[in-house]
Amino acid sequence: MQEIKIELTKAPKSKPADESALGFGKIFTDHMFVMNYDDGEGWHDPRIVPYGPISLEPSAMCLHYGQEVFEGMKAYRTANGDINLFRPEKNIARLNSSNERLCIPQLDEELAVEAIRRLVEVDKDWIPTLEGTSLYIRPFIFAIDPEVGVHPAKHLLYVVILSPVGAYYPEGLNPVKIYVEQNYVRAVKGGIGYVKTAGNYAASLKAQEEAAAQNYTQVLWLDGVERKYIEEVGTMNVFFVVDGEVLTPSLEGSTLPGITRMSCLELLRSWDLKVTERKISVEEIEKAALEGRLSEAFGSGTAAVISPIGILKIKDEPLVINNNQIGQLSQRLYDTLTGIQYSKLEDKLGWIVKV
Ligand code: COI
Repeated sequence: MQEIKIELTKAPKSKPADESALGFGKIFTDHMFVMNYDDGEGWHDPRIVPYGPISLEPSAMCLHYGQEVFEGMKAYRTANGDINLFRPEKNIARLNSSNERLCIPQLDEELAVEAIRRLVEVDKDWIPTLEGTSLYIRPFIFAIDPEVGVHPAKHLLYVVILSPVGAYYPEGLNPVKIYVEQNYVRAVKGGIGYVKTAGNYAASLKAQEEAAAQNYTQVLWLDGVERKYIEEVGTMNVFFVVDGEVLTPSLEGSTLPGITRMSCLELLRSWDLKVTERKISVEEIEKAALEGRLSEAFGSGTAAVISPIGILKIKDEPLVINNNQIGQLSQRLYDTLTGIQYSKLEDKLGWIVKV
């Protein structure tokens, strides 16, 4: 494995005084990991350096054509002071899957996980300890060739930054309000919907802005062709409990394959619950809700963890789910996932990597 050089900051910043006011992704730690890719040389010079601005040519390709991928994961401080990462190898494998789709050279997965462990170790005093807080880890890769021709980059940067965070949604574990998006689409099969890349999030901003204006937290995306099947929320995957069966949209190439989604499925199956991944039409969910058969709906994601959906508006009809309360299963998944992440529960499935 390549050696990771470390240059410590000479000007450490003061850490946030009030951990209850962290919000999400607004504060960054003292250091970052950086590695370059140059054609002919491969990925090289892995290093941890003081956090700070990156200088780019105005012609840097990422600024024009969005050849960029990213990841989201967290480090958790346990009661006895340990630091846990949750399935980091899955995030790095997904990063390489995103790389493959966007013609970005593959990373050495072992080096990438090690780089995250070392960076978190260097900035470990930034990991908040208040219940529900963690250190969000944002790895990202972008094209820096100073050229405006459209072609796969020959020069890229891989950077990892860290941010002490609280809950992603201001609602925390209280149910969010979501509506089914009828005008815009996020992705289509064959496109880049399954890739964690900036463009998918840029494409969602307009809908998010319109949702916020109507006092909704987010939108639920439908498939881009028939506008019939439920895909995801954009910041999370979704689950529905209908007649006691847990349903989640199957991954058809236009939905992000969430690590939290995967973990929820594994937990639900280990509890011997009936769990099905398949195409789910919005009519089906509406009918189940109107007939009193939809007992819970929730989103899952690294940032969002488990986020109950209390109101789901389909066309003009806001459906109230489980009296706008968190459901039993959502609570159990939240408690189990966070229990494992913070070592309050035994890690029976071998998901934790210690820093
Ligand atoms: C995550 O859950 O880590 C995400 O990347 C979602 C969002 C913050 C973009």
